[in-house]
Amino acid sequence: MEIPIKTICCIGAGYVGGPTMAMMAYKCPDLIFNVVDINKERIAAWNNDDLSKLPIFEPGLKEIISNTRNKNLFFKTEIEEMIACADIIFISVNTPTKTRGLGAGKSSDLKWVEACARQVAKFSEGQTIVVEKSTLPVRTAEVIQKILDSVHSNSNSKGKSFSVLSNPEFLAEGTAIKDLENPDRVLIGGEDKSAMLLLSEIYARWVPKEKILFTNIWSSELAKLTSNAFLAQRISSINSISAICEVTGANIKEVSRAIGKDSRIGSKFLDSGPGFGGSCFKKDILNLVYLAEYFGLKEVANFWEEVVTINNWHQKRIAKIVVKKLFGTISQKKIVILGFSFKANTNDTRESAAIRICKDLIEEGAELVIHDPKVSPQQIEIDLQMKQFSEIKNENTNYSNNNVGNWRFSKNLNIFDNAHAVLVLTEWEDYKYIKWDQVVKTMVRPAWVFDARSIVNVALVKQTGINFWCLGDGSSNNEISDF
Ligand code: NAD
Ligand code: UGA
Repeated sequence: MEIPIKTICCIGAGYVGGPTMAMMAYKCPDLIFNVVDINKERIAAWNNDDLSKLPIFEPGLKEIISNTRNKNLFFKTEIEEMIACADIIFISVNTPTKTRGLGAGKSSDLKWVEACARQVAKFSEGQTIVVEKSTLPVRTAEVIQKILDSVHSNSNSKGKSFSVLSNPEFLAEGTAIKDLENPDRVLIGGEDKSAMLLLSEIYARWVPKEKILFTNIWSSELAKLTSNAFLAQRISSINSISAICEVTGANIKEVSRAIGKDSRIGSKFLDSGPGFGGSCFKKDILNLVYLAEYFGLKEVANFWEEVVTINNWHQKRIAKIVVKKLFGTISQKKIVILGFSFKANTNDTRESAAIRICKDLIEEGAELVIHDPKVSPQQIEIDLQMKQFSEIKNENTNYSNNNVGNWRFSKNLNIFDNAHAVLVLTEWEDYKYIKWDQVVKTMVRPAWVFDARSIVNVALVKQTGINFWCLGDGSSNNEISDF
């Protein structure tokens, strides 16, 4: 089918807008994709000739960008013009949890979505398909449609008409390109059958038709929230069981493997870790909680809220274990933190478990040396709301008189000298190959390795005699050796 569509605009050049449009541009060389954003620096970074300076890191993204950018994919700040010439507009802006007012702490802040809808209403021309790509509370499409329709009360509506569709994104960071190229499903919710068909024809260029699902618009919005809630629930479930493993002598990896063999349960998303992070799981569950509360479904709301409660408890639990194992005090003890992003293969730190855990350790007086292959020290400074130790020193602040610890960043892994402990928080591949027999020689004894991602080579660490704690491993060394 020939698509009577030539130009597509995506509002929001973030973790979703950027890679999603890049993949579409790659698969549809005959269509034009304009990605716009109010953040000029972000757009400049997307246009940087040096592809290692793109605003987000995703394996495979550079290659796709180099194939499409300035051919049929453009990153721009001219939002109004790009809206005016678009046949389809994807709304891919941020939808964080509200921090104040009605629904604060739970419901989504839709001010960016509303601003987009108003811009589309004002600047679009002719017939436009408006697609919700952002994750939104159920019935947001109604709000968008109302804002768009409000132009009809305006004398210069110039024959405008709109169809609103829901097409949530299911990519995971770190595997975004793989997920976009080979999605489990593409979900299109709406009422306007011809608009739904047009959108599906774009995906059908590379996604098998049986994977493209059509639903009503509310099911599509709710399916996205539910999908994230189910995934997060699995992680809270397995993390809660890891705590039981530690006190009973069971091993969470063995338990996961055993239950994952049940085809009804399946083996994916059963890795225990320091608690789920990322910009979406917590926000989307809280959104679901808010929705349930709004409709008076208190028990449903409580059920889903527990998933977040367990996650918070679990993150706190890890910092407490470190303190306890280091004789109850970590004041002025050097602790090496391996990994700060919320998962491997991304530079994103939003809601990373490392933030909570590092803050707790600093609060206890530890001196952290943080390594991450992709996260910048500037980002860590924002997340920890604290400057690096070297900068505090340069400002001549009286840092030695308080009991709070500090942190500094290291680009390389020559950081183990005089460390009391190493704590692995992100499963970066590099950390699997650390030569523990060399590392222990330079550490303070008794030395500890805490592995919250179960990626360290246990046999290698244990050979060195170093004390080892692994999340969910009830058999790991509970006695403190001289190492
Ligand atoms: P992001 O914060 O990385 O990007 C959003 C971008 O929108 C920002 O660059 C911001 O400047 C821009 N923006 C906001 N208002 C604008 C406006 N009026 N005009 C132009 N630009 C505007 O967010 P993200 O991670 O890409 O997430 C976007 C949405 O997608 C969210 O609803 C999220 O829940 C959902 N989602 C995210 C992921 C993910 O992996 N990050 C996956 C699936 C779905
Ligand atoms: C998640 C979903 O997987 C995507 O389908 C969804 O599109 C996206 O949220 C979204 O809506 O934003 P993402 O947060 O990028 O993707 O990454 P995940 O792989 O889901 O990991 C989330 C967190 O769970 C990470 O902190 C990760 O380390 C943790 N995790 C994941 C575990 O602790 N154990 C696991 O087995 C899997």
